[in-house]
Amino acid sequence: MPDNRPIGVFDSGIGGMTVVKSIVENMPGEHIIYFGDTARVPYGTKSKRQITEFALSDVKFLNAFDVKAVVIACNTADSTAREAIEEAFPDLPVFGVVDPASRMAAETTVNGKIGVIATNATVSTGAYERVITAYNPEATVFMKACPLLVPLVENGRIRTGDPVIETVLKEYLDPLVEEGIDTLVLGCTHYPLLFDTIEYLYPELRIISSSDAAAAKVLGDLIRKDACSENTEAAGSERKYFVSDDAAGVDKLARVFMGEDLGGTFEQVNIESY
Ligand code: DGL
Repeated sequence: MPDNRPIGVFDSGIGGMTVVKSIVENMPGEHIIYFGDTARVPYGTKSKRQITEFALSDVKFLNAFDVKAVVIACNTADSTAREAIEEAFPDLPVFGVVDPASRMAAETTVNGKIGVIATNATVSTGAYERVITAYNPEATVFMKACPLLVPLVENGRIRTGDPVIETVLKEYLDPLVEEGIDTLVLGCTHYPLLFDTIEYLYPELRIISSSDAAAAKVLGDLIRKDACSENTEAAGSERKYFVSDDAAGVDKLARVFMGEDLGGTFEQVNIESY
């Protein structure tokens, strides 16, 4: 039976809009509730206990909207708090980014050498190595924490030809390429914005966006369960965006991630009360 309830999406901040973008491209008619924890971002530098506590309150907030599923858009939250979320919300279908991106990488690699770039917290969980090698036991995974990339992306340093972003990318990616990787996973909400520049610098790499992989997984699951919305047009979809800090000016950054009309406005919510 079609399910007209919204899909809930959350991230530590606005970066998760790359996942919203992919969802809208694949399923334009779906209604979306987005929460970006802008008051407590970044998650990628925080402890497991702290990230888990934040992620649980984020899901509690979204669940109050009677969502049909929650998408953990944040690689850091997915790799750190996924089990805790599933335990706390046993009846809620939960999607993440790590599993679909890992699966895609495991199926894409030809030589079995896969690089993953992510935040410090995501790297420290070992989640990508675990999931990729579960899908492809022959694979070798090379992880690289890239703490400079999130602030650079948020400051708009994403363009091919920008010497700042190109220097930083080479610093992080050259060692992975020297290891012989043929596939690179962009394991962070912000990195899909660097797709073109990475592709330009390393045209031989097969690049996998965790945001696109996540959206494809959600679409496949909704189709399989016959749980898509009856509405199929972007014009008829309702999109509500919430942040935990001041909502003024957030649209501008959100548009950088979304690259199009957001189809909704931002409101502030007190996440501490969830
Ligand atoms: N959303 C985070 C991720 O995908 C990046 C930003 C942060 O550190 O909170 O890992």
